[in-house]
Order: sequence, then structure tokens, then C-alpha cells
Amino acid sequence: MGNNRLRIMSIVGARPNMMKVAPLLTEFRLHEEIEPILVHTGQHYDYLMSQVFFDQLRVPPPDYNLGVGSGTHYGQTAEIIRKFGDLLQHDRPDMLLVAGDVNSTFACALVAAKERIPVAHLEAGLRSFDRSMPEEINRILTDALADLLFTTEESANLNLANEGVAPDKVFFVGNLVIDSLVRALKIAPGHRLRAELGLTTKPYAVLTLHRPSNVDHADQLSRTLDAVAELAQRIPVIFPAHPRTSQTIKTAQIGAVRHWEGGSLPAAGLWMMPPASYLDFLDLIQHAVMVITDSGGVQEETTYLDVPCLTYRDNTERPVTVSSGTNKVVGCDPHRLLLSALEILEHPLYTRGKPASLCPPLWDGQTAPRIVRVLKQTLQRDLASTAERVPL
Ligand code: UD1
Repeated sequence: MGNNRLRIMSIVGARPNMMKVAPLLTEFRLHEEIEPILVHTGQHYDYLMSQVFFDQLRVPPPDYNLGVGSGTHYGQTAEIIRKFGDLLQHDRPDMLLVAGDVNSTFACALVAAKERIPVAHLEAGLRSFDRSMPEEINRILTDALADLLFTTEESANLNLANEGVAPDKVFFVGNLVIDSLVRALKIAPGHRLRAELGLTTKPYAVLTLHRPSNVDHADQLSRTLDAVAELAQRIPVIFPAHPRTSQTIKTAQIGAVRHWEGGSLPAAGLWMMPPASYLDFLDLIQHAVMVITDSGGVQEETTYLDVPCLTYRDNTERPVTVSSGTNKVVGCDPHRLLLSALEILEHPLYTRGKPASLCPPLWDGQTAPRIVRVLKQTLQRDLASTAERVPL
């Protein structure tokens, strides 16, 4: 251990990693004995998919950027493995932290495990039980490699127990996404985009779509957007589009969307725009009548914010957002999506303002300090046992 400090290396690669790792980096700064190292794989690289999160979450620039960029799943994963493997040859931490389920998560966990560097997985144990999702494969493999598994909800604890993971490796600590959200709401309500859209007092809905199964096939995407366009005759729908989604819309010339070019929106329409910044996005969903999404993190954020969420997928790996949150999984059926959305417009599912006790357990903004306590205990114990074994 260099300088007797605990060297903890964290990986970010894709957009959903940023809000999970940011609260930990902030917490690390309160502990002198920790030396944080940040690696960006470069899986996401556009300003609005990456740097804007560093700026808004006040994350210092990464110590290393592997600059892997886009590619096939296999090409991208292989490139991360190769470049991260090279990096570990000259900078070897005491522990590696990976978050979520993206290609960067699994690729870096694999390299560290082979290097016998302990791996901690943030958001372990979530399962959709749908192996057609690349993320499900990444989750299963990362959990199999991890030495410490930090979980966000009870279902994850159960899944890991069912898979035979030793209970002393699993720590139920709550949700870092909520840590970031709580902090963001406190420090900087970001309402510039909502104001610019002229939506500070008008009702509207928000749509996000990026799963390959929903957006890579023009026919399926086109039918989905036609259904949302029908909803959008009643209420404007704001659609900050992921680059993967924009590509299909552009290539297939899907006509259901209108392109926002700045300024106030009229009373109706499905309005596509570039990805929103973190603060603008939270502000948009917080004040929306409903959110339609296929994202994992958005299901959690709407649960905390008490906003109705329709998940456009056949399953969710985050069942607590349905059992004690505001989420409804509607399947990938455009007709059912439209009916469910109209139902929310006509008969709101529930009244807002649920008591805090109804939020999922430990979704309280205090997950980062809980994780750091475990990391310190584990690393100090491991170092002490190594010292015992090596006679001085
Ligand atoms: C990845 C994650 C997914 C996560 C999502 C959030 C995996 C397997 N998937 O999917 O779990 O929910 O990020 O966004 O890791 N692109 C750009 N600019 C960028 C990034 C991507 O234009 O900054 C384009 C590229 O053309 C790329 C495509 O988007 O080919 C898809 O990017 P990629 O990182 O492969 O996967 P995502 O669909 O973003």
C-alpha cells in the first residue's frame, strides 16, 4: 500500500455509472487514509453523456481515461480489458470498485480478479432473469467475480443467496443513485431546461428509451413512438434521446417525433431533444405527470420522487420500485403502453406525497458513508492479516 493509504480505484464508463460513483468520491475526501483513483474507460464520450455529469456532480477529472469509445459489445469489452490490463501493470490499487451492469463494469472486474485485486461491486445482485439483455450477463459475471457485493434492495440479497454467494460477502447498504439525487436536489435545483421549454406550470410527460431491444429495430421503435405520439396529442411529451435511439430515428426517418429547436413548446407533441444534463433531467422528471422509460436508474429516481413511472420492458431487475414505489412494468407493447399512460392522465394512480417510510429501505442519501465503513474495515483487516503472515 503506497504511503500507507488505502488506494481505492473506481471505474466509470457509461452515463449510469457517474451518479453511483460520485457520492463515494465525495465521501472518500472525508477520509485521509483513503487515496481515491478514478478511471474513465471512455465507453461514453459525448459531452452530454459524460463530462456534464463530472461538472454537475462535482467529480474531479479522472486520473486515467482509457478512451475506448464505441464498438460492438465484444470489441468494446475486449478493448476495455486490454487497456485496463495495461493500466494495472503500472498502477495497482488495494481495491477496485465497479458499479452497475455496463460493459465497463464487467470488463474491469475481470481484469482485477485475474490480477488478484479485490473487487467491490456496487449495485450487486439485481436480476431481470432475462439473458437476452447484455446487462444481465454483465451483472451475473461481475457478481461471480466480486469479493464484496453491495446491494440496494432485498431482492438482490435473495438473488445472491439463491446463487450460493457467501452471506459475509454481501452488504445491504442502500442506493447510491438516491445519494446523488438527494444531494442534487439540495445543492442545485436545475430548472433551466424546464423553464426554457415553457413547462414550469404546464403538465407534461417525459420519455426515455435506449435498450437495444426497444430502439435498434426501426419497426418496433416506430410503433412505440406512434403510440407515444397519440398520448402527446393530449400532453407534451419530452424525449431527451440517447445517441443509440437518435441513430435509429435518423436512419429510419421515423416521423412521429418533432425536433425541438429551442424555445417554449406548444400544448402538444412528442418532442425529441439531445440528452439532458443530470440536473435538468432530475428537474424534468420531478415535475412530470408521468415518466415512460426503459432505464433502470429512472425507475429508482421516480420511486424516490414519487412520480408515476411506466417501464417499457417485460421485466425489471428492480422489483422494489414496483412493490413499494411508483413503477408499473407495462411490457414492450405500444398499445398497452398507451392505455396505461391514458389511465394515469385520467385517474392518477395514487396521490403524491407518500410518507418517507414508504420509500424502499435505506434509500436515504446515506449509502456512501455505509459503503466506506465496510471498505475501510475490510481493507484494514486484510492488511493486518497480511502483516501477521509476513514475519518482520
Ligand atoms: C450502455 C449500457 C447500458 C446503459 C446505457 C446508458 C452496456 C452493455 N450498456 O448502453 O446498460 O443503460 O449505456 O446510457 O454497457 N454513443 C454516442 N456517444 C456516447 C456514447 C454512445 O454517440 O457518448 C453511441 C455510439 O454510437 C454507440 C451507441 O451510442 O455505438 C451505444 O453506446 P454503448 O456504450 O455501446 O451502449 P449504450 O446503448 O449507451
